Amino acid sequence: MDYSKKVLEHFQKPHNYGHMKNPDGMGKVGNPRCGDIMHLYLRINKDVIKDIKFETMGCAAAIATSSVVTDLAKGKNILEALKIDSQKVVDALGGLPIIKVHCSLLAADALAEAVYDYLKKNKRDIPEELEKKHESLKKEHEEEAE
Ligand code: FES
Repeated sequence: MDYSKKVLEHFQKPHNYGHMKNPDGMGKVGNPRCGDIMHLYLRINKDVIKDIKFETMGCAAAIATSSVVTDLAKGKNILEALKIDSQKVVDALGGLPIIKVHCSLLAADALAEAVYDYLKKNKRDIPEELEKKHESLKKEHEEEAE
């Protein structure tokens, strides 16, 4: 597989890998195309992501994209973090082989789900876009389970 140097670096030494106890927000997503799964945990203070960790069972691209998402999101306001989409993730890695681009969705979706979880737990308003994304991910998951 023709991975960029950045992808290999993040895959071999992922940043912020591991579990977090009692996170303020947690996102869990699966990739319906391959069955890979990612958990992403957030520690949030005054709406700023102070700490972030992930656990991903997946391919090299899934692990590298998860790792780079944690770098991109750390220190950001949660609403800013929601702007990190899969294109930004792929760009930050210097590109991904075309057949691996779908793997980058996992990380961006898990981040959005973790922010959703945080807002929901704190009974805060949820941006319409985020609500829609959450609903469509839930649906995908249910369809997979059938
Ligand atoms: Fe499953 Fe890449 S093949 S996330």
